[in-house]
Amino acid sequence: MTTRISPRMEQDLLDPPLPSRSLDAARAWALLLALARRASLGRPVTRATSLELDEHGELVELPVGRGAITVRPGATPSFELAAPAERECVELFELYLPLCIGAGSETLVVGHLGQSLDGQIATSSGASQYVTGPENIRHMHRLRALFDAVIVGANTVECDNPQLTTRLVSGPNPARVVLDPNRRLHGAQVLFEDSVALTLVLCAHGSEKRNGFTHAEVLGIAGTSELLPVANVIQALRARGLRRLFVEGGGVTVSRFLEARALNRLHLTVSSVFLGAGRPGVQLPGITELESALRPKVRRFTLGDDVLFDCDFDAS
Ligand SMILES: NC(=O)c1ccc[n+]([C@@H]2O[C@H](COP(=O)([O-])OP(=O)(O)OC[C@H]3O[C@@H](n4cnc5c(N)ncnc54)[C@H](OP(=O)(O)O)[C@@H]3O)[C@@H](O)[C@H]2O)c1
Repeated sequence: MTTRISPRMEQDLLDPPLPSRSLDAARAWALLLALARRASLGRPVTRATSLELDEHGELVELPVGRGAITVRPGATPSFELAAPAERECVELFELYLPLCIGAGSETLVVGHLGQSLDGQIATSSGASQYVTGPENIRHMHRLRALFDAVIVGANTVECDNPQLTTRLVSGPNPARVVLDPNRRLHGAQVLFEDSVALTLVLCAHGSEKRNGFTHAEVLGIAGTSELLPVANVIQALRARGLRRLFVEGGGVTVSRFLEARALNRLHLTVSSVFLGAGRPGVQLPGITELESALRPKVRRFTLGDDVLFDCDFDAS
């Protein structure tokens, strides 16, 4: 009796398939963190690649189709899982994979704002904890973990006294960057006091010497007491090895990045609440013709009771 060997069987004999491993959400998240780390190192995955994680959590590349997941970067990144996976795992890849792979992901700049139905990110007194629900707060912590640095404006530090850490998820803390052109913050806030992550205060040249901090570093850059040009902010951070940037707020800071066309994406999470007159989210100069409007390509996700609009400006 003769046994026929199909080309597939022949291939499997030469290159045995890995044991089929269904990814769970924890492993999916670890894989995304590893992909983001690779992009941070300047070596993003830029072509169709099949991936596994080894026992140390390091990425292992395999021939296409042979790992737990095959990712396909490009204008519309996609993925295929080798085995059926729980819904949460699929959702993690759908939302975060485009932030972790592809040409340009090594210098990705993403903004986020959580806003009311009437476009406010805080009440008029500055209270914003929390406009959006717990799922979006977790989403923000995940974004922090995927980026080299989290950037906030001076008002956010003043109003919220934020830690800007990843304490709700697994993953590294990003460097914390505060835009304070005049050095008006005096160091009472927690992110100037603790040493859980690097804190950098960016100010205009000439304001560096005022108010010493225990743990934060002060960096003077070219700009004025009114405006630190966004291009100079990005350049100064890249010179410090911080290239993947997450702009977390508030409205003034995110709007300046958007106006400078420096955001690749903006995550706008809308909560079903009306705040009335408050602190506005995105504010851009007016336009006269609709043709001049910014029209990003948008994906929508449900985060608990909130709706996240993932606005992709590169694909618009
Ligand atoms: N819902 C959310 O997603 C969310 C997120 C973050 C914060 N918040 C809330 O939003 C409020 C703060 O937001 P906000 O819009 O008022 O202010 P913000 O963006 O936090 O801070 C704005 C200030 O930061 C400095 N700054 C930012 N970008 C600059 C640049 N390119 N050049 C020079 N200076 C720059 C300026 O400081 P100077 O004033 O010294 O010039 C500016 O006035 C707070 O109530 C906070 O709780 C909400």
